Amino acid sequence: MVGPNAATMFEGTRARETERVALLEVTDLRTYLHSRRGINKAVDGVSFSLETGRSLGIVGESGSGKSMTALSILRLVPKPYAKIVGGSIRFDGEELLKKSDAEMREIRGGSIAIILQDPMTSLNPVFSVQYQVGEAVHLHQHLTGKAKLDHVIESLRRVQVPAPETRMRDYPHQFSGGMRQRVVGAIAIACRPKLLIADEATTALDATIQAQYLALLRSLQRELSLAFLFITHDFGIVAKMCDHVAVMYAGRIVEHAEVREIFNRPAHPYTLALLEAVPKVDRRVERLYAIPGSPATGHVEHRGCPFAPRCALAIAQCHAERPPSISVGQGHTSACWRAEEIYASRIGLPSNGRNDSADVRAAEGSERRP
Ligand SMILES: Nc1ncnc2c1ncn2[C@@H]1O[C@H](COP(=O)(O)OP(=O)(O)OP(=O)(O)O)[C@@H](O)[C@H]1O
Ligand code: SF4
Ligand SMILES: [Mg+2]
Repeated sequence: MVGPNAATMFEGTRARETERVALLEVTDLRTYLHSRRGINKAVDGVSFSLETGRSLGIVGESGSGKSMTALSILRLVPKPYAKIVGGSIRFDGEELLKKSDAEMREIRGGSIAIILQDPMTSLNPVFSVQYQVGEAVHLHQHLTGKAKLDHVIESLRRVQVPAPETRMRDYPHQFSGGMRQRVVGAIAIACRPKLLIADEATTALDATIQAQYLALLRSLQRELSLAFLFITHDFGIVAKMCDHVAVMYAGRIVEHAEVREIFNRPAHPYTLALLEAVPKVDRRVERLYAIPGSPATGHVEHRGCPFAPRCALAIAQCHAERPPSISVGQGHTSACWRAEEIYASRIGLPSNGRNDSADVRAAEGSERRP
């Protein structure tokens, strides 16, 4: 039950929400890939917004369009066969799709930084760490000499690279995988970005190193008031790191809500299935749940719901008409013909025997799927 105090708090939160201005506003973004198989609608009408200091998780199976969404924001889609064909990406009040290539180079690694899964994709093996962090500092902060060096050391210290004054002279291969990812983090924050995109940034790290890295990212976010876009397969990471979550399927966001809300009251069968696939620390299971069938891709024109062939709750309408995204609760949308029904049936009803808060805690504890 929501008591009067909670209601007042909620009103306060809502007032602050309306005051907040989005740092990043993506509207109806469409990125298509052209190949011999035809057009692949890799990103097919994606909309979301993200405020300063907040974090949004984008989750979905492989091929759902998560990375292509991130690459579109950075205007780094693979050329010539990928093209942003429509929509809008407003960042810090300006339209990124109207920026020149030179302006985008200034923004990339400047006010928007990205950390990828494999640190060696971002690091050059033939240059020292000092050179590589320094290059970013020079390019975007225009610092030289001692000021640049101090900034390099400070950035490495912030990501907790021990003895940065001496270690900065080392080359990437002289660092462990976890430390290399910290160096990538140092490059990312060296230019004081406003938005940090992490695309499966911790997937290659073992569980302990991953937990340390996530804790580091969280403290950096607080210190630097960063907005975070977290791309992951892993609901455990979403539970730990994000305020909001967008679930992607076949190039579209099929559900979007606050993290706690999505764990407590998912309103899309695909989200239910993804959550079902998260291992629970408090449940003994013989076998992990796997979503039946293969993920849909943007190659196929779907008349109905793209998830219908795999959906246990599909009805005739699902195969005939594409479901629109509807609002089922405060800031909670779902693109499913049965969204309201699913949402209503789960409100306050632990009918499946699960304790909702326990689910969030279990996901926070699980973090990695085998
Ligand atoms: N370089 C590429 N060339 C051709 N097709 C691509 C390329 N990168 C992605 N795609 C296609 O674009 C669609 C979206 O892919 P994307 O990489 O965004 O998925 P993802 O959700 O990031 O998956 P993963 O979790 O595996 O990283 C998929 O159909 C994929 O096959
Ligand atoms: S619209 Fe139908 S097929 Fe699609 S997710 Fe909802 S119930 Fe399943
Ligand atoms: Mg990806």
